[in-house]
Amino acid sequence: MADRVEIFEVGPRDGLQNETRQIPTVEKIALIDTLSSAGFARIEVASFVSPKWVPQMADSADVLAGIRRAPGVRYAALTPNLRGLEGALAAKADEVAIFGAASEGFSKANINATIAESLERFAPVTEAARAAGIPVRGYVSCVTDCPYDGPVAPGDVARVAARLFEMGCYEISLGDTIGQGTPETIDAMLAAVCDVVPQSALAGHYHDTGARALDNIGVSLARGLRVFDAAVGGLGGCPYAPGASGNVATEAVHDHVQAMGYETGLDREVLARAAQMARAMRSGG
Ligand code: HMG
Ligand code: MG
Repeated sequence: MADRVEIFEVGPRDGLQNETRQIPTVEKIALIDTLSSAGFARIEVASFVSPKWVPQMADSADVLAGIRRAPGVRYAALTPNLRGLEGALAAKADEVAIFGAASEGFSKANINATIAESLERFAPVTEAARAAGIPVRGYVSCVTDCPYDGPVAPGDVARVAARLFEMGCYEISLGDTIGQGTPETIDAMLAAVCDVVPQSALAGHYHDTGARALDNIGVSLARGLRVFDAAVGGLGGCPYAPGASGNVATEAVHDHVQAMGYETGLDREVLARAAQMARAMRSGG
C-alpha cells in the first residue's frame, strides 16, 4: 500500500486572513462546506484574534456556527491567548492552535510579545485546552527567514518547537512564513528540529513566495515528515509578514506527492472546485 501524506487544509484561515475585501461569512461557509467533502481530516477555519489586528477573521464564531460539520473532520481555530481559547471553545472548535515564532522581530510584529512572553502566554492556553479535552497544535513561524530579522538559526527554531511540544502540543507546524526557504535551509532547520521533536509530530507549513514550496516538501518527506499545510487555490499570506504570498496550493501538493507515489485520500475534483471558489473570493466575485 502507498505511503500516506496528510494535507492539513488552512485556506479558510491562512488563505483568507490577508484579503483586504471583507469576505461575506456565507462565502467562507460555502468554501468550507465544499472542502468538507474533499476527504480532509483537519481544516483550519477560524482565528480568535483581535479584530483590530486581523479584521477578516472577526466573524470566526459565525463561521463555525454556520458550517455543516462532516463526520471525521476536525475544524481548527487559532487562539493566541486565553480569551481566544474561550471564543474557540464557545464556538465548538474541535482543536486549537497557538502560534509562536523563531525570530523576535516577527513575534513582536505578529502577536506583540517577545518569544519568552509568548511562551508564558501559551502555557495556560494549553492547560485550559487540555482540561477541556481539546487538542492543541503549535506553530513556529519564520523557520528559515524573518522579514524583520533576516536569516533564522536552526537552533532557534528547535528551541521554540521543543518548548511547544513539551507544553503539550500534539503537532508542531513549521512555518516558512515568507516563502524564502530553500531545500538547503529547510533541510538544515529540520535536522535541528528532528533532534528534539519526533518527525511524526512535525508538519511543514510552506508559503510559496519563492516558488520552492514543493521542493521544500520534497526534502521534508526525505526527513520523514508526512503532514503538510496548504491552502486551496494557493490563497493567502500573513498581514504581519510583508511580502508573504500564498500558502502552497493544496491541489499542487496533492499532485506532487501523488506523482511521488504517496496517497492523500483527497478527491481531486472537489479540490479543483474549491480552488476555483477560493480564487473567485480573492478577486471579489
Ligand atoms: P495586544 O494589543 O498585545 O493585546 O495584542 P491586548 O491584550 O492588549 O489586547 C488588545 C486588544 O485586543 C484589546 O481590545 C483586547 O480586548 C483585544 P481593545 O481594548 O483595544 O478594544 N483582544 C482580543 N480580541 C479578540 N480575541 C482575542 C483578543 N485578545 C485581545 N483573542 C494579540 C495581542 C495576540 C491579541 C494581537 O497581537 C493579535 O490578535 N494578533 C494576531 C495576529 C494574527 O492573527 N496574525 C496572523 C496569524 S499567524 C500566521 O498567519 C502565521 C501562520 O500561518 C504560520 C506561518 O505561516 O508562519 C500560523
Ligand atoms: Mg502561514
